[in-house]
Amino acid sequence: MQEDDVKISQRAKHILPFHVMDILAQAKALEAQGRDIIHLEVGEPDFSTPEPIIQAGIAALKDGKTHYTRAMGLPVLRQAIAGWYQMHYGVTLSPERIVVTPGASGALLLLMGAVLDRDKTVLLTDPGYPCNRHFARFVEGQATMVPVTADSDYQLTAKDIDKYWDDDTAMALLASPANPTGSVLSCDDLKALSAAVKAKRGYFVVDEIYHGLVYGHSNTTTALAIDDEAFVINSFSKFFGMTGWRLGWLVVPEAFIPVMDRLAQNLFIAPPTVSQYAALAAFDPDTLAILEERRVIFEQRRETLLRALTALGLDVKASPAGAFYIYADCQHFLNEAQPDSMSLSRYWLEEAGVAVTPGYDFGETGADTHIRFAYTRDSSRLLEAVERIAALYR
Ligand SMILES: Cc1ncc(COP(=O)(O)O)c(C=O)c1O
Repeated sequence: MQEDDVKISQRAKHILPFHVMDILAQAKALEAQGRDIIHLEVGEPDFSTPEPIIQAGIAALKDGKTHYTRAMGLPVLRQAIAGWYQMHYGVTLSPERIVVTPGASGALLLLMGAVLDRDKTVLLTDPGYPCNRHFARFVEGQATMVPVTADSDYQLTAKDIDKYWDDDTAMALLASPANPTGSVLSCDDLKALSAAVKAKRGYFVVDEIYHGLVYGHSNTTTALAIDDEAFVINSFSKFFGMTGWRLGWLVVPEAFIPVMDRLAQNLFIAPPTVSQYAALAAFDPDTLAILEERRVIFEQRRETLLRALTALGLDVKASPAGAFYIYADCQHFLNEAQPDSMSLSRYWLEEAGVAVTPGYDFGETGADTHIRFAYTRDSSRLLEAVERIAALYR
C-alpha cells in the first residue's frame, strides 16, 4: 500500500522530506557498490560525544537512572544550564525559566504549540532551517518566509520586521549562527531586531543551537543578554556533540513557565533521563577543554574549505562566521546538463563521489543556485572532495 492509498491529515501532507534524503539514498547505493563517498551533506559533528559525558551516561545507567524525570527536566540540570549562562555570558537566569526538551526540535515544537494559534504566522528567513515552517504548519499556524540575501548576511533586519509583520504575525524566529549560511548576528543586530519585534508586541525567538561554534571575533552574546523577554532555543546536539542523545532546552519568560510545564507533560512526559544525567558533565572543565579543541579544528576546516571552494570558482558571498556550514553560489557550474543545484549535487555525487546539500532544502530564495557544504569531515577529506570536483571540469 502506498501513502496515496491511505488517509493522512492535511497537516502531514504539507510536511515535506529533505531533498538531501534523495542524495543520501543515492550515496548509500553507491557505497553499497564499493564507491568511496565524501559526505559533506551531514549536519552533525563527526566527533563523537566527549568522553566525560559518555562516562556520566554510563554511570547513570548503572545507577538505575532509567525512570521519568520532571517534565521540565532534572532541577540539577536546569541549575547547571543556568550556571552556564552565568559563566559563559554573564547572564543571570532563574533555572525555573529553563525547559529541558528532547533536542532543540522538542523546544521548537513546545514553543510553537504554546504561542502560535491557528493561521497565525511566524517570520522566518528564506533560506533557513527547513523544519521551522513545518513545526508552524504542524500546529496549524503558517510561516511567512522572508527572502534574505548576502546583503543582510542572510539574516532578517529590523526593516524586514516592519515590512513583513501583519496582524496575524505572532513572532519572529531567527538563528544565529544560522543554518545553512553560518551567518552570525552582531550585538547591534540583535538589539535592533529585538526592538523592532517589541514595537510590534510580538515574540522574539532566537535559535542559538550553533552557539559555541563561532570563529574569529564573532559575537557570542546570547539574545538574553540583550532582551530578557526573548525566547532562546539551544541544544546539546551541536557544540556539545550529543546529537543522538536528543537533548536541548528552551529559555522562556517567567509568565510562560506554567504553560510550558503543561505542554511538556502532555507531549513528552519528560526529556530522556540518561541523556540528562550525561549532560550534567557537559559543563565540566574537562569537557569544555575537549570542546574548545574541536572548535579550533572546525575553525581550521572552515579556512581550508573556504579557500578551496573559492579557488574552485564557487562564490561565498557572506562570510560564514559560525556553525559548520558554507553556503556557496554555484551558478558558475550550472549549464544545460546541470541547470540547477539539485542536478549539480547529483552530478557531483555520481561522478565525483561528493555528497552536498542543494539549496532547495532551505527554502526558495536562491535555492536553485546555492549549495551547502558541511565541514563535518577532516581537512584532508575536504580538500580531496574539492579536488575530485575540480577534476570533473579539467
Ligand atoms: C538551526 C537548527 N535548529 C534546530 C535543529 C534541531 O536540532 P536538535 O533537535 O538535534 O537539537 C537543527 C538541526 O540541524 C538546526 O540546524
